[in-house]
Amino acid sequence: MLSKTRTRRRLVVLGVVSALSAAAAVLAVGGRLGGGRSGSAGDENFEVRPYLQLGDSPDTGLALLWQAADRDDAWAVDLRRGGDGPWVETPAPAWRRRALEGSPPARLYRAALAGLAPGSSFAYRVRRSGRPVFQARGSALKPAGVPHRFVAFGDCAAGTAGQRAVAYRASLARPDYVMITGDVVYMRGRASEYLRHFFPVYNSDAAGPGSGAPLLRSIPFVAAAGNHDLIDRDLDRLPDGLAYFYYLAQPLNGPPAPRQSPALVGAEGRRRAFLEAAGPAYPRMANFSFDYGDVHWAVLDANPYADWTDPALLGWLEADLAAAKRAAWRLAAFHQPGFHSSVAHADDQRMRVLAPVFERHDVSLVLSGHVHNYERSRPLRFAPADPASPYGPGGRVEGAWAIDGRYDGRTRTLPDGVTYLVTGAGGARLYDPDRDDDPHSWQPFTARFVARTHSLTVVDVTPEALAVRQVSADGEELDRFIITH
Ligand SMILES: [Fe+2]
Repeated sequence: MLSKTRTRRRLVVLGVVSALSAAAAVLAVGGRLGGGRSGSAGDENFEVRPYLQLGDSPDTGLALLWQAADRDDAWAVDLRRGGDGPWVETPAPAWRRRALEGSPPARLYRAALAGLAPGSSFAYRVRRSGRPVFQARGSALKPAGVPHRFVAFGDCAAGTAGQRAVAYRASLARPDYVMITGDVVYMRGRASEYLRHFFPVYNSDAAGPGSGAPLLRSIPFVAAAGNHDLIDRDLDRLPDGLAYFYYLAQPLNGPPAPRQSPALVGAEGRRRAFLEAAGPAYPRMANFSFDYGDVHWAVLDANPYADWTDPALLGWLEADLAAAKRAAWRLAAFHQPGFHSSVAHADDQRMRVLAPVFERHDVSLVLSGHVHNYERSRPLRFAPADPASPYGPGGRVEGAWAIDGRYDGRTRTLPDGVTYLVTGAGGARLYDPDRDDDPHSWQPFTARFVARTHSLTVVDVTPEALAVRQVSADGEELDRFIITH
């Protein structure tokens, strides 16, 4: 699976990604790159080794990001469209400075991997001062009509054994991308936490249950923003907080300036340093949409400050979903679930206000996290009792639901309503494991509840069906269901 070099004797093979449907091989090129790097985000060339993101224009290409020292090195990226043939140098990478208190200044580089035919594979290599220092393979987003697979989990980069095992298990599923349902890093969404817990695990050179897997270099991770990612905006306390806005690169097609988005707090110099790093991503990247194959995704900010009855937010979502009516599937991802059966966060039901919108636009599946376990609802419809003023104490939303009791996900696969998944068992401490075997403690809409193990969601998408499996970190199938039109 590993390609061979005829000319570079110093080439060190570091690992094999079992990530993409086109077997993805990972090479790192350079002098001492082979040693002492396990468990770190970077090496002698990088503070953070290269990783793929959706970027601004996922229909036509991907973004390649990396971070390096704040100095004038000559960086270049070469692309091999189709995976072989000649290397073609891409336009010069852009960079922004990340100069925050408490860590050495760094440069956040971004190169556009453009002009990729949908679904095509490619190889890229990163050169520093002319010398290749990193190489990997990836695939462009697949077009409609072509089956694809994604993996989803949330509440993940907590530095636990469960996080690493879920990452490795995700790589064994060979997904086309990963959807994180919020709370990307613990505890405070800080750059230092990404460097410790996120990049070393999901872009690990080694693949294994104890280390993670080299996923990020070959497939994009997409992330909804959770409370641990976005709520704390006090840069005096956390100068490297809100790193979501500069470590991730996702479409900037959401509402331009969410009205309720909390203001940045902190001395002017700290705010300026953050905004220099984040650029136009702040605050817009909290909500966005994109298409992958037959799925149209709406990725939403469900933090309590976001009022989804506000016409600016709601209008954007309605228009976005209406414009996607030709997609075979419409899915939504956000952090705080509207429907779940856990004790923790029981009153935070704010996102129930969007249930009628999802029903109107034929959204099939909603994925959330926040609650650290796996929960699947029966297909349901929900009507808030007071749509004009739906929020009660703590975020409660009173209303009436209608549950589809006929759907079983195996022989009866055509649901009447929306299926709500909580897949928040990606690495953080699990909630309510004592409720697994106690269905009487579940809400009437809950069909499945598994909290005894960390787990991930694996979804196979075709134009005709969503085939969903929940898999534990050590490979046990915890749930399986199919949704058809
Ligand atoms: Fe959370």
